[in-house]
Amino acid sequence: MLLKTSLFLITLLGVVSGRSLVTTNLDLLQTPPLNNEPIIGVLSQEISYYLDGKYPGLYESYIAASYVKFVEGGGARVVPIWIGKPRDYYESIMSKLNGVLLPGGATWFNQSNGYADAGRHIYGIALEMNERGDYFPVWGTCLGFELLTYLAADGNEHRAHCSSSNQALPLVFKDDFKTSRMFMNAPETVVKILENEPVTANFHQYCVTEKNLTDYNLDKEWRVMSTNSDWNDFEFISTIEHRFYPFYGVQFHPEKNLYEWVRNKNISHTSHAIFVSQYFAEFFVNEARKSLHHFEDSKTEDQYVIYNFPPTFTGSKGSSFEQSYMFPVEIAYNVELNEDNSAINGITSLVGDFIEF
Ligand SMILES: *[C@@H]1O[C@H](CO)[C@@H](O)[C@H](O)[C@H]1NC(C)=O
Ligand SMILES: *[C@@H]1O[C@H](CO)[C@@H](O)[C@H](O)[C@H]1NC(C)=O
Ligand SMILES: *[C@@H]1O[C@H](CO)[C@@H](O)[C@H](O)[C@H]1NC(C)=O
Repeated sequence: MLLKTSLFLITLLGVVSGRSLVTTNLDLLQTPPLNNEPIIGVLSQEISYYLDGKYPGLYESYIAASYVKFVEGGGARVVPIWIGKPRDYYESIMSKLNGVLLPGGATWFNQSNGYADAGRHIYGIALEMNERGDYFPVWGTCLGFELLTYLAADGNEHRAHCSSSNQALPLVFKDDFKTSRMFMNAPETVVKILENEPVTANFHQYCVTEKNLTDYNLDKEWRVMSTNSDWNDFEFISTIEHRFYPFYGVQFHPEKNLYEWVRNKNISHTSHAIFVSQYFAEFFVNEARKSLHHFEDSKTEDQYVIYNFPPTFTGSKGSSFEQSYMFPVEIAYNVELNEDNSAINGITSLVGDFIEF
């Protein structure tokens, strides 16, 4: 479909400009094809203690809507990825998606069939894809960043306890940060703001230090672009990327600047904070444009996208997330169609359940 569209465009350009079609063709064919309709998976996680208290027993897993909006605001669509599924499920869904975002949160890595187990499948599959030349980006925010290094460390607890809750910080860049993919093409204004203004929102009690990377033999695969210090001057890594594959981690929360308004928290909403947060969203989505995976057709896409689920205004219940997507126990996620294209065991009936709640 992509190829058809570009050939059509080439023809159109050729006709309009009157230039030689052959030259135009060659020029365009030399640029790598980009997917300008990227779809990114956002991993769900165990329902939070807080949300479960507010909606007792109703939901098994959730995604804070700010992560969904972060991806959407960067120019992509979102498909929720469930926890607690066998590896086949993650293989199948990732073969249709153009990247995965591992959100932050407050779950443990040791819960069986939870966030960390799903992450293990996703990380392993993403490694295999990239190893065979199938470009597939993974982005981790906060706990998602820690999950990336945890999985890279073979599930060893490599983190340090630290205290960086409610901290708004500028980044302390490494000398060579501009040779990283994450910052190579960052506009100078973005770099200047990140370097000088307290725009990154930190909410974490675990940190990954440079010593943890070397101790667990991760520094050969991962490079550090910036560090920060917590309330007790304990230094931690704030941005990281894989040396060979398009895997990225940020310890802070760019999606909070853009989409979270919980009061009395250190989340900057200055125009500069928004500008740099948006940079990270667009960077990740641009990485996803390099993946050409796709669903069979738009009907199938429609069954998977997050638009099938209504977000709930959880901020009004005191949650730190303004809106959350909460998913019931035993979700029946549609993968098959009846002859009339209605879902077998699918979302269609599930949406009905939501309306009744
Ligand atoms: C997981 O780890 C946490 C922190 O170490 C601990 O409190 C909890 O009991 C553990 N849970 C399980 C299921 O092992
Ligand atoms: C990680 O490194 C910090 C010091 O940088 C250390 O205090 C902590 O114990 C380390 N964590 C592990 C699990 O080795
Ligand atoms: C917000 O973070 C800054 C920088 O870390 C700090 O100086 C300030 O006290 C924090 N404000 C709150 C309300 O915690």
